[in-house]
Amino acid sequence: MVSKEQRQQLIDTAIAVRDKAYAPYSGYQVGAAVLTASGRIFSGVNVENVSFGLTNCAERTAVFKMVSEGEQKILAGAGATSNAGSPCGACRQVLVEFAGDVPVYLTDTEGNVRETTLHALLPDHFGPEHLP
Ligand code: THU
Repeated sequence: MVSKEQRQQLIDTAIAVRDKAYAPYSGYQVGAAVLTASGRIFSGVNVENVSFGLTNCAERTAVFKMVSEGEQKILAGAGATSNAGSPCGACRQVLVEFAGDVPVYLTDTEGNVRETTLHALLPDHFGPEHLP
């Protein structure tokens, strides 16, 4: 269960961290944050590279930081962009690895939030049960 306060903290964190994005090529700055089972929030930004394919999205940065710090269960996620954009397919799959059908808050920089869930974003996803 995500409290009102946690929801707002997650959204505020994603908006605040977005300023740290390294996006000189696209100019599209993304901030992301995940709330974990312990109550901690991990944030991330997109980190681009002159070799464009090496870019890491904000959501995956946040998830990789979370795992690196010893946590593996996501209770909610937030993404902040100029236009409340959706997370890309790759990031959805990475989030699914560590989350159930959790709330996902997509916000613009003014705090206008679109609320959805991870399974709404990635229905019929590939999971461990599909491995032979
Ligand atoms: N980007 C993210 O950080 N997350 C997404 O889910 C969508 C795309 C970044 C990658 C690139 O730096 C910029 O947005 C434009 O594609």
